[in-house]
Amino acid sequence: MNFQLSEEQLAVQKAARDFAQTELLPGVIERDEHQKFPAEQIKMLGELGFMGMMVDPKYGGSGMDAVSYVLAMEEISKIDASASVVMSVNNSLVCWGLETFGNEEQKQKYLVPLASGQKIGAFLLSEPEAGSDATSQRTTAEDKGDHYVINGIKNWITNGNSASTYLVIAQTDVAKKHKGINAFIVDKDTPGVTVGAKENKLGIRGSDTHSISFQDVIVPKENRIGEDGFGFNFAMKTLGGGRIGIASQALGIASGAYELALKYSKERKAFGTEIMNHQAVAFKLADMATQIETARMLCLKAAWLKDQGQDYTLAASMAKLYASEIAQSVTNEAVQIHGGYGYVKEFHVERLMRDAKITQIYEGTSEVQKIVISRTILK
Ligand code: CAA
Ligand code: FAD
Repeated sequence: MNFQLSEEQLAVQKAARDFAQTELLPGVIERDEHQKFPAEQIKMLGELGFMGMMVDPKYGGSGMDAVSYVLAMEEISKIDASASVVMSVNNSLVCWGLETFGNEEQKQKYLVPLASGQKIGAFLLSEPEAGSDATSQRTTAEDKGDHYVINGIKNWITNGNSASTYLVIAQTDVAKKHKGINAFIVDKDTPGVTVGAKENKLGIRGSDTHSISFQDVIVPKENRIGEDGFGFNFAMKTLGGGRIGIASQALGIASGAYELALKYSKERKAFGTEIMNHQAVAFKLADMATQIETARMLCLKAAWLKDQGQDYTLAASMAKLYASEIAQSVTNEAVQIHGGYGYVKEFHVERLMRDAKITQIYEGTSEVQKIVISRTILK
């Protein structure tokens, strides 16, 4: 077993770290405060090849492995989890889904601009009445021969306004249950598509989350992904990789908070010594470091399995479950180590604590990850 990262992987990690420090850090508090989408920074991430990291260069991507993706996601998330969720959705849901299951025409038309960062994509599965219970899709896609007509509402869509390409999951044949669900590529500017108001969120406030409604939206048949009835399997398989992305986001939020707490504990004095010399503080840091390293191993293992072409469903769910849980405790302790200073915006840890919460909810709640894990181990 080799735990050594390759030169190329180390270079990707460094490039992401440098970018986060120079381009994301300066405005991150303001973007959080005003819910400002990091448009310029996402454009730069695209130019650096971070928006289609694992996509074959012939489709505009960077052709990197999933391990590099985890490393980059961790570094970006340490500083700005709002930017990293945009990156995660575009890379592991939209680009991966299109590259793996799209046909050649769809890849040329839609994947190339998404992977090269010229456009942003969104993944539309959740609905007001169908979140964890994702097979209960109410959005319909009526088959009209050479086209489908989509009606319904999607909720909580990341990149809802900034994306120009939507991957939409909808029910074509209710009688067939999840085998009657399809996935479609829909241009945001198609008549009948309406973007709802931006959600005012606890965390990842720089990302734009919207409901999207569809009223008699005509989608040509060639925009369906895969065979008729493949949509739910498409969504589940795509979310497997997505969960590696969100696990890495949680890992980055935790390690960002830990690094700040470690630094602060060496500077802040109380009772005549740096607070790191109080064992209660040192033990907190020891627990945080151990939890982060465990989460990192789980993320890297899931990514490694993906790179080897092996089944990574279980590993991805374990990584997401664990990393998102420890992101709560680590960010909470980071605020505690900062004392009162941790409770105000300038020290960053309160934002990281708010950002951590979503990682237990989206791309499958912690309870859903336990469903996936338990079903697999009990099989
Ligand atoms: N990987 C691959 N296939 C899977 C799968 C997985 N993890 N989980 C289920 N499937 C397949 C099953 O094999 C089955 O297919 P077949 O019939 O062909 O065998 C099909 O999906 C239905 O499976 P179940 O009978 O297990 O379905 P279920 O109704 O019991 O639900 C569930 C299972 C795991 C709870 C699923 O509904 C689920 O994952 N829910 C959570 C939805 C979710 O993660 N949403 C995220 C939205 S995107 C997002 O959130 C983006 C963002 O924040 C940034
Ligand atoms: P529910 O499914 O109603 O769950 C409520 C509670 O019940 C949870 O604690 C859940 O774990 C629990 N629960 C439900 N069923 C079970 C069960 N069988 N066993 C045990 N516990 C259970 N969706 C997209 O499609 N695309 C996106 O880009 C996207 N981005 C998002 C961004 C943000 C900021 C947010 C908040 C959400 C986003 N989502 C997105 C939606 C997200 O994936 C869902 O919120 C999530 O899957 C949970 O669904 P729900 O909110 O309907 O909660």
